[in-house]
Amino acid sequence: MTLLFCSDSDSPDAWRAVFAEAFPRMSFRIWPDCGPPEEVRFALVWRPPPGMLSRFPNLEAILVLGAGVDSVLDDPMLPAAVPVLRLVEAGLPGPMSEYALAAVLHFQRSMPAYASRQREARWLREPWQPASQWPVGVMGLGVIGGVVARRVAAAGYPVAGWARSPKELRGIEVFRGDDQFGDFLGRSRVVVNVLPLTPSTRNILDAGAFAHMPRGAYVVNIGRGEHVADDDLVAAIDAGHLAGAMLDVFRQEPLPPAHAFWRHPKITVTPHAAAPTVVADAAGQVIENIRRMERGEAPMGIVDRAKGY
Ligand code: GLV
Repeated sequence: MTLLFCSDSDSPDAWRAVFAEAFPRMSFRIWPDCGPPEEVRFALVWRPPPGMLSRFPNLEAILVLGAGVDSVLDDPMLPAAVPVLRLVEAGLPGPMSEYALAAVLHFQRSMPAYASRQREARWLREPWQPASQWPVGVMGLGVIGGVVARRVAAAGYPVAGWARSPKELRGIEVFRGDDQFGDFLGRSRVVVNVLPLTPSTRNILDAGAFAHMPRGAYVVNIGRGEHVADDDLVAAIDAGHLAGAMLDVFRQEPLPPAHAFWRHPKITVTPHAAAPTVVADAAGQVIENIRRMERGEAPMGIVDRAKGY
């Protein structure tokens, strides 16, 4: 029985140690060294090359090393009958919510303006407005979005969330569906995106969405790069309608050196760093899922392929 590991962003040695302890009889292989394809029962992957997962006739599960599974579902050769499992919780909501809060504070406390004034040695204060005057909107209210919304709300910001399906979160105003998207954007001075990437959320933050946001608003993207129409974002900022953005995810990663985002004075770029997958936090779910499947029980985090998450 083989588990095949394939990820550019996670440490194979750390995962090998986890499996050596939990499943000593399982052979741990690192792509592209697969061994006999019929022995591969589990694949532990992050952004696997397209077509790779179709090579193993006895694959029982695809365990994704992240919360977002778009890169796996986008594979046209993805085997239809094999369950795809995503990380649920697994230590991700904490750092995601920290990043969101850091971004909101950064904008509310005028840090971008002070950074540029420091370069000119200019001593000039910005007017201060309390958190209560900075309504924040969180797009996506799943496990991660819920924690983001609560953490930002706990810091004193009026928080609303937007989701496709009905949700209830104490202290958070919830907007739902396409009909309420414009109103949600219209009341948000900072919009934080944590949606999963699906056909219906691709390019959701485009010129039309930005036009609904109030003048001087900010965008924070910790979902996927494809949620944002890059040129529309730059145009909305350059036109003075949006005040800036903090972006952690991009259509192409690493963000190509020539991309306009790198040098834009009102855009902060971070390298898909909002929430690392920490082995110690993710291992519990991965191990428990393999144990459950061996006992014939349903694993956690089964992706609904039609929904895309
Ligand atoms: C990271 O991007 C994840 O989906 O977990």
